Amino acid sequence: MAKITLDNLAHSYLPKPATDEDWALKQLDHVWGDGEAYALLGASGCGKSTLLNIISGLLRPSRGRILFGDQDVTDQPTAARNIAQVFQFPVVYDTMTVRENLAFPLRNRGAEAGYIASRVQAIAAMIGMEAMLDRKARGLTADAK
Ligand SMILES: Nc1ncnc2c1ncn2[C@@H]1O[C@H](COP(=O)(O)OP(=O)(O)O)[C@@H](O)[C@H]1O
Ligand SMILES: [Mg+2]
Repeated sequence: MAKITLDNLAHSYLPKPATDEDWALKQLDHVWGDGEAYALLGASGCGKSTLLNIISGLLRPSRGRILFGDQDVTDQPTAARNIAQVFQFPVVYDTMTVRENLAFPLRNRGAEAGYIASRVQAIAAMIGMEAMLDRKARGLTADAK
């Protein structure tokens, strides 16, 4: 984890926002502390997903900056940010095993096989899924996914 800073952040899906209503995310300045856990609450349409997509890099904000620690990541693609976004509905690869699913992001980044194996083992132990590593994700319960 790292400290996350939202600096003068605002977003409109319109090319030329004019009125207040045109902003999906009105200006926001905030700091989330390193290692803390937070919940983002608000009515449907208030901008929660817009903000999360900006933080993970799926969306570039119309205004402002995002910093991870002291590093400005506003113009970095998701893959360069070392961040994961977990969606409401599980996104696992059904035809891969649990082990292959856990290894997939590291493999895509070209990590070395020994390192991948040790990280997969550590994460599986942390979440209590060591016994399921070689099962296809297809058969898992919603919780396990
Ligand atoms: N891709 C998009 N294009 C245009 N408007 C969008 C898009 N996504 C969301 N919006 C609008 O931005 C506002 C915030 O939406 P959203 O971030 O999805 O809210 P929440 O996740 O809190 O329900 C809403 O008015 C929504 O209609
Ligand atoms: Mg949403």
